[in-house]
Amino acid sequence: MRCVLVSTRMDLRKFLGSELARISGRIEVVDHRDSGTDADVRMALAWHPPADAFERYPNLQAVSSTGAGVDSIVTCPSIRPGVDIIRVVDPAQAQMMAGFVAFHVIAHQRRFATFQTQQREQLWRTLPQRAASSMPVGLLGFGAMGQAVAATLVSLGFPVMAWSRTAKPAAAQVKTFHGRDGMMEMLGETEVLVSLLPLTAETVGILDRRVFASVRCGGYLIQVGRGEHTVEDDLLAALDSGQLSGAALDVFNTEPLPKESPFWRHPNVVVTPHDACDASPRAVADMLLSIADALQAGTRPANTVDRARGY
Ligand code: NDP
Ligand code: OXD
Repeated sequence: MRCVLVSTRMDLRKFLGSELARISGRIEVVDHRDSGTDADVRMALAWHPPADAFERYPNLQAVSSTGAGVDSIVTCPSIRPGVDIIRVVDPAQAQMMAGFVAFHVIAHQRRFATFQTQQREQLWRTLPQRAASSMPVGLLGFGAMGQAVAATLVSLGFPVMAWSRTAKPAAAQVKTFHGRDGMMEMLGETEVLVSLLPLTAETVGILDRRVFASVRCGGYLIQVGRGEHTVEDDLLAALDSGQLSGAALDVFNTEPLPKESPFWRHPNVVVTPHDACDASPRAVADMLLSIADALQAGTRPANTVDRARGY
């Protein structure tokens, strides 16, 4: 089965590394930049593909993301209707996300930024300690990532709430919400807001002034979804007014984050370079094998997304 690698942002061959040899008995990998029209290509692995990337592959049946998000793929105009789009579902990636979010929640709870400032000033001063139980965390998105994050935060003693598009049955120790009203209700009880949403037509610009104004005064934002969710000027205003006491930002409207962005130097912002968690090369290679099996068997690959819904 021939699979083309297509990305404007990463070297997918390098990413797969030794996994290429493991899958080579079943999958022949070719690079988009070296290929012309190719009727033998039936599947693709993509991350931020060029708009016209898939015009050359008339028999393409499946395009898979290298990550959990498919926003750069569902919007690619050269993927014909009927071609399946698949995302990675990797429990190890979700566990990594849970650790990343828990780190920032605890940093806010225990005021590590203040400790760091005190250390620079050689100041020996204890700070009031707050119980986890006094700090409600609201998750926007309760899918593979959100559920792993929720389980970790619950185990650490934080009250956890989660908002999703569709109603969810009450989950163990997680208060669930859905719909616009449900979101506002959850925000009213939230101190730490974690964005774990996919980027879709419905979620673009969702983190705006109304949202920031609705969480507890002095709240904290952990943004690990997609940069396009954030109205960055509204976020800066909320930080500068003290409505938000800080933010941990892993994703941005423009990536890499431009040198002139105020977030780099903001005293209450932690910047990471879209690095909260990656799917492992092994998980991606296993997914390619399972897609090849499905195409061979004439079945729908697992973790095919709903193209109309956008995730
Ligand atoms: P899932 O598809 O498993 O979950 C998405 C969740 O978002 C679901 O609960 C879904 O609701 C909810 N949702 C989607 N649209 C809306 C909406 N309009 N209103 C309310 N809720 C909505 O995705 P994952 O959990 O695997 O990943 C989520 C996102 O995290 C990815 O798309 C990506 O953007 C980001 N991510 C970032 C990483 C990083 O390194 N920074 C790494 C991995 C992922 P419902 O349950 O009802 O369908
Ligand atoms: C993903 C990501 O979607 O890394 O997996 O952002």
